[in-house]
Amino acid sequence: MIPKIIFEQSIKRYFKCVAPFMDDESVSEIMINGPNDIWIEVAGKLQQTNAKFENADDLMGGVKNIAQYVGKTLNDLNPRMDARLPDGSRVHVVLPPCARNGVSVAIRRFGEFSLTMEKLMGYGSITAQAAEFINLCVHMEQNVIVAGGTGSGKTSLLNCVSTLIDPKERIIVIEDSTELQLQQPHVVMLEARGPDAKGRGKVEIGDLFRSAMRLRPDRIVIGEIRGGEALDLIQAMTSGHGGSMSTTHATYPDDTLRRLETMAMMSEVKMPLAALRSQVASAINIIIQTARFNDGSRKLTHIVECLGLDQAGEYVIHPLFEFKHQGQDPKTGKVMGELKAVGNLPTFLDNARSRNLHVDESWFRPL
Ligand SMILES: Nc1ncnc2c1ncn2[C@@H]1O[C@H](COP(=O)(O)OP(=O)(O)OP(=O)(O)O)[C@@H](O)[C@H]1O
Ligand SMILES: [Mg+2]
Repeated sequence: MIPKIIFEQSIKRYFKCVAPFMDDESVSEIMINGPNDIWIEVAGKLQQTNAKFENADDLMGGVKNIAQYVGKTLNDLNPRMDARLPDGSRVHVVLPPCARNGVSVAIRRFGEFSLTMEKLMGYGSITAQAAEFINLCVHMEQNVIVAGGTGSGKTSLLNCVSTLIDPKERIIVIEDSTELQLQQPHVVMLEARGPDAKGRGKVEIGDLFRSAMRLRPDRIVIGEIRGGEALDLIQAMTSGHGGSMSTTHATYPDDTLRRLETMAMMSEVKMPLAALRSQVASAINIIIQTARFNDGSRKLTHIVECLGLDQAGEYVIHPLFEFKHQGQDPKTGKVMGELKAVGNLPTFLDNARSRNLHVDESWFRPL
């Protein structure tokens, strides 16, 4: 590991050509496709820049420097890396020959999550009613999965939802590389790591999850479910660890459940599909879908409750809110529409009332 101050100086030298973008608040992502092709995302839209590295060595030197700073191995045998820079930006690197354009890097520049439910409402990503409902779900210790496509705002939303957790609770956060920023006073952050140059010392999300279960959690928050750890999470959710939350890549609520099933099958523990499906069905209570629209905006598109399996063994999905598209503004190109209640009531309202939680049936009335 190299000290932060030395790292900051050296990365500025290697990454001189992208430094202005790294300091620019309006840039949300910097994409380096080899030394001569650099793109940025501004207000959700991609644009190509004229910036270029002086040579391929500077780019390679820069990414090796990042690897050294975060204590990860980046070489021919380990050509991929996730890392987080001192300013909070998330970096993913792929080296040639896997990356055909030369060293390929994506830097997601969010120094800190400043998104709050109020801001999401201001952007038109969520309505006040849906935000009230999500708050209720957190207080009712519902198990929540935020799902959506790449860059659709899943992690930002999970961060926002996690701020609703009672500060009295002990929260254990597990991530591949630290992104979430919980503000509560009692938070334990665990981070997975890859193997060293000799293939030793790998710690996976599933391993950390098993540790988390022994660290007396009130809540477990997992940054993203990508593989066999889905089974650990599902089993914890069905064995009384309510109120867990995570994200995953999937586009519709039933896809999300099937994807969790498929990922759980990647676990070393093998289980018949029917048994697995019934565990997934009883583990997941709420799915919130996010999407990135072609105007660059990110919005919630569905909030559903999962009510187990029907007699044919299919998931029963109870829709609560859905985004209703109303076309695109011809002048600004902005996507118009709103996340609307579909008219169904969640099944746990009586239970919520008996716990003296604030419930208003008008949240679920279609306007
Ligand atoms: N509701 C929103 N409105 C506008 N911008 C948003 C919104 N949510 C997230 N963003 C921005 O979109 C980008 C992607 O967000 P985020 O990292 O949360 O997405 P993700 O779905 O977790 O991505 P990935 O699939 O790469 O993990 C970030 O720059 C973030 O600041
Ligand atoms: Mg994410």
